[in-house]
Amino acid sequence: MTSKCSWRAALLIVACAILAAAPIATAQIPTGQAPPHKAHPPATPESIAQGKQIFDGTCAVCHGVDGSGANGPNIQGAARTMGPEGLYNRIWGGVIGSGMPNFSYLGEDKIWDVVDYVGTLGQETGGAVIGDPQKGEEVYTSSGCSSCHSVDGTGGDRGPDLSNIGSERSASFMRDEILNPGANKPDGEPGLSSRSAYDGYRMYRVTLADGKTVTGTRVNESSFSLQLRDAHGNIISVDKLKAKSIDVLGDESFMPSYKGKLSDAQVDDLVSYLATLEVKQ
Ligand code: HEC
Ligand code: HEC
Repeated sequence: MTSKCSWRAALLIVACAILAAAPIATAQIPTGQAPPHKAHPPATPESIAQGKQIFDGTCAVCHGVDGSGANGPNIQGAARTMGPEGLYNRIWGGVIGSGMPNFSYLGEDKIWDVVDYVGTLGQETGGAVIGDPQKGEEVYTSSGCSSCHSVDGTGGDRGPDLSNIGSERSASFMRDEILNPGANKPDGEPGLSSRSAYDGYRMYRVTLADGKTVTGTRVNESSFSLQLRDAHGNIISVDKLKAKSIDVLGDESFMPSYKGKLSDAQVDDLVSYLATLEVKQ
């Protein structure tokens, strides 16, 4: 009897201790949005090797050694769709209520290493940044990218602003974008403003009553009219009621493909330059 009592008392004390500690513990439970952390350092062969070591020991049990999935989903494309920041947040915070634990305990440096390694999964050439950013900046200038894109306020606005592209997109995404523009436009994704703004670059082709066509990105639309911006930057307003057809060209872009125009090394350099573009906080 007495032994049962003291056992209960002990349990009560333990329970109280847990309850007392609970408010502090919940305050620290990661919620999926990582607190301010240092910007993504450029990936290096060392950071990728470090990341691989952590991945093999910590993540492979659920995602498979090659990231193709096991108890957890295939994450070979995750770097591409989530970008480095998205991956950082997911690894830091896990997914509450799913089997994906949080790994905030790894700390910033190790999480970035894992991000770098995850970027190489399922990629023949690796999603890692392997070029020379300085040469890449020259390629950027000589290829006329700035006629459509702006970086830190300088350049055109026919394509998205690239000032923060390094933290929004993975290396493999950017490489693909340069070689196959249009083919991989992401859908709007809440939380990443530049992604939801992507809608603005969707191409439309309007066939007018006389059979002529107008192709451009949508600037404005009402019930009766559609304003398109054509390849020269001219705004053309069409009467929707008089148009024969309005088609959305899902796989087209005003951005020219640089496949065959730039060497593999130039593309690597260019991507490594883009990867350095981040808004300083
Ligand atoms: C105990 C199993 C488990 C472990 C260990 C684990 N994960 Fe996960 N992971 C999951 C599950 C389950 C999901 C799907 C969560 C959901 O429902 O969205 C997931 C989702 C993810 C996603 C998002 C995939 C997507 O497309 O939305 C990424 C990225 C990811 N995990 C990376 C990692 C990394 C990196 C590690 C190691 C640091 C890791 N995971 C360890 C089970 C695990
Ligand atoms: C004629 C205009 C034009 C030129 C020149 C151009 N782009 Fe683009 N670019 C666009 C448009 C429009 C988009 C958005 C639609 C899409 O994804 O195709 C885009 C998208 C991108 C994206 C993806 C941005 C994001 O937020 O995901 C990157 C990266 C990019 N361009 C890089 C470049 C680089 C590097 C060059 C030079 C080698 C270049 N672009 C030249 C028009 C252009």
